[in-house]
Amino acid sequence: MLDLPHRPRRNRKSSWIRDAVRETFLTPAHFIYPLFIHAGDDVQPIRSMPGVARLSLPALLEEVEGAYAEGVRSVVLFPAVDEGLKSPRGEEASNPEGLVPEAIRRLKARLPDLTVVTDVALDPYSSDGHDGIVSPDGRILNDETVEVLCAQALCQARAGADIISPSDMMDGRVGAIRRALDEAGFAEVSVLAYTAKYASAFYGPFRDALDSAPRFGDKKTYQMDPANAREALREVALDEAEGADMVMVKPAGPFLDIIRLVRQATALPVAAYQVSGEYAMLKAASQNGWLDERKVVLEALTGIRRAGADVILTYYARQAARWLREG
Ligand code: PBG
Repeated sequence: MLDLPHRPRRNRKSSWIRDAVRETFLTPAHFIYPLFIHAGDDVQPIRSMPGVARLSLPALLEEVEGAYAEGVRSVVLFPAVDEGLKSPRGEEASNPEGLVPEAIRRLKARLPDLTVVTDVALDPYSSDGHDGIVSPDGRILNDETVEVLCAQALCQARAGADIISPSDMMDGRVGAIRRALDEAGFAEVSVLAYTAKYASAFYGPFRDALDSAPRFGDKKTYQMDPANAREALREVALDEAEGADMVMVKPAGPFLDIIRLVRQATALPVAAYQVSGEYAMLKAASQNGWLDERKVVLEALTGIRRAGADVILTYYARQAARWLREG
């Protein structure tokens, strides 16, 4: 016999003890479900995201009603915009008759208590595939873009969005959007800022889904360098000062240290986005029979919560909600 006063295994010896000492919980209340929509009548599967598709508006309603019944009460919408509607300044982003405002109105009419989150950035609408306006010499124009983003945010708020979520990474956009919302009487509309959004290759499948990849260059002059952590703290301080209600770290899995850092730096709720490439990895390995999908997905989501995220944006939201209920 070893002479061991401490045997940590005693606190793992039964399912009661394990349940009683568990530190991290995952429930469908933590999820925001990202959904892709398009103007057509068909449902278009996304090659690099098996199980995810661009939905028609009727299919969106059906999917959201199903997810809602299973406990997922918040969605975030991403539009695949017809090529003909894209332009250098992305005017379609603030068209009140556009796809996103129409989707918001229909969702709210059907499910008034659903929390609808909308993405603010120009990339789905930009003929350049960038989140901001591009100058003739190829720079992304910050202040001009912020003005257009305010119009986009107002358009979404008028349609009934509950939470506006700027993902563009322009400087000063959180404060400008907050002011624009307040001046227009939307003081109750929240701002969930993509605060530490990295220039990540894990967004690849998302850009397939929206056909929104940059037509030239990359996003490194506005999205953050994956090698940096201190910079995330600077972004948190600014977004907090500018009036963000929640801050986000994105991607989630490869940036768990940043989630923890941000958690410790602010009293605001922290969200984390398990992005398209994280979904694609888990899905591909599972489809090959290399990983147990249910177990790895719940483990990955629990890890994101354990790192310090309150809220998780995940393409697995509906399925995870189902798994959690099955126990
Ligand atoms: C657009 C936006 C992106 C994502 C969310 N909003 C892509 C990008 O910045 O290129 C990525 C989400 C994902 O990969 O799941 N501003």
